[in-house]
Amino acid sequence: MTMAMASVEKPRDDQITDAPPSSGDIVFWTTRSDITPLRYPGGKRKLGPFIADLITKDGRKPKLIAEPFAGGASVSISLLEAGYAEEIALNDLDELVAAFWSIVFSRDADALAEIVENAEVSVPEWYRMKKLRPASMMEAAFKCLFLNRTSFSGSLHNQAGPMGGRNQAKGDLIGSRFNKEKIAKRIRQLGRIHERVRSVTCGHYSQAIRTHGSADTLWYLDPPFFAKADRLYRHHFDEAAHNFMCMNVTRIKGRWILSYDDHADARRLYGDNPGFARIGLQYTAAVGETRQQKGEIVVSDIIARRRATSADLGREIEIPRRSVQRATKRPRSI
Ligand SMILES: C[S@@+](CC[C@H](N)C(=O)[O-])C[C@H]1O[C@@H](n2cnc3c(N)ncnc32)[C@H](O)[C@@H]1O
Repeated sequence: MTMAMASVEKPRDDQITDAPPSSGDIVFWTTRSDITPLRYPGGKRKLGPFIADLITKDGRKPKLIAEPFAGGASVSISLLEAGYAEEIALNDLDELVAAFWSIVFSRDADALAEIVENAEVSVPEWYRMKKLRPASMMEAAFKCLFLNRTSFSGSLHNQAGPMGGRNQAKGDLIGSRFNKEKIAKRIRQLGRIHERVRSVTCGHYSQAIRTHGSADTLWYLDPPFFAKADRLYRHHFDEAAHNFMCMNVTRIKGRWILSYDDHADARRLYGDNPGFARIGLQYTAAVGETRQQKGEIVVSDIIARRRATSADLGREIEIPRRSVQRATKRPRSI
């Protein structure tokens, strides 16, 4: 069965309360493209509306949304800003990523924003940054952001080269994704909500799960991809790690939502789980091009429980983009 989900207007501040959002619809603005200052390969911001909808259907607002594979952290941040959780907790095994979020969600966010505004964005600077051994958390945070926004595919991986190539002769050039003003502005905005970020840690996801496991926690788990993850991230999963996660996810204390790229191995591992769904994320590549579809797999104890009592969540779910675009003028990405 295929289910389409609707979109609604952004809630006013006075509509965001401790109670779960009242409507069963998607909040469109969680799809805005400048949620996170990081360009993350495989970033899941488009799943934000779907997860907001699941929280609403479940009827209980989590105290904490914890994202132990944070990356660009767009899901946690969008849900926090839209009032779907009181606090968030972020973790990543990559120390550059963890340093970035530690600084952004601290009183030092303004200092990082200033460094961004004064940054030299050039190929020699890219090579200097690539070699840099950060001497402080701030240096690590800036190294993360700089390489993320100037490297091919936003990858921090050692093998990822500078956008535009060494000679700046192909494709997008080194500075094309480094809009200093917009990035600095977003970092300052996020710094202002640091008190709602319970913790940012750098470690293995299992440690984060032990720390924050509670009935009031909603886990958003987005482990490295099955395909190509070894080329995209500095830490990835081998087959045993994917299997281990599958065997243990149902034991997590709290509600949980797991997402994967729609890959045959993910379907094999989770296809029989009662909380399994395939999500179609539609997007239009460019004016005049045919609409393409990117698939994700989502598995959740909320979906499983919902299915036991209601028929509102099928195994194939479509998230339409068109109605989202009609609802608002989309902010330009940073
Ligand atoms: C698919 S990405 C997360 C993307 C993120 N959901 C977003 O929307 O931007 C997976 C992340 O998990 C991190 N990672 C890999 N292995 C890990 C582990 N064992 N524990 C914690 N984080 C890990 C990687 O560094 C990477 O940032």
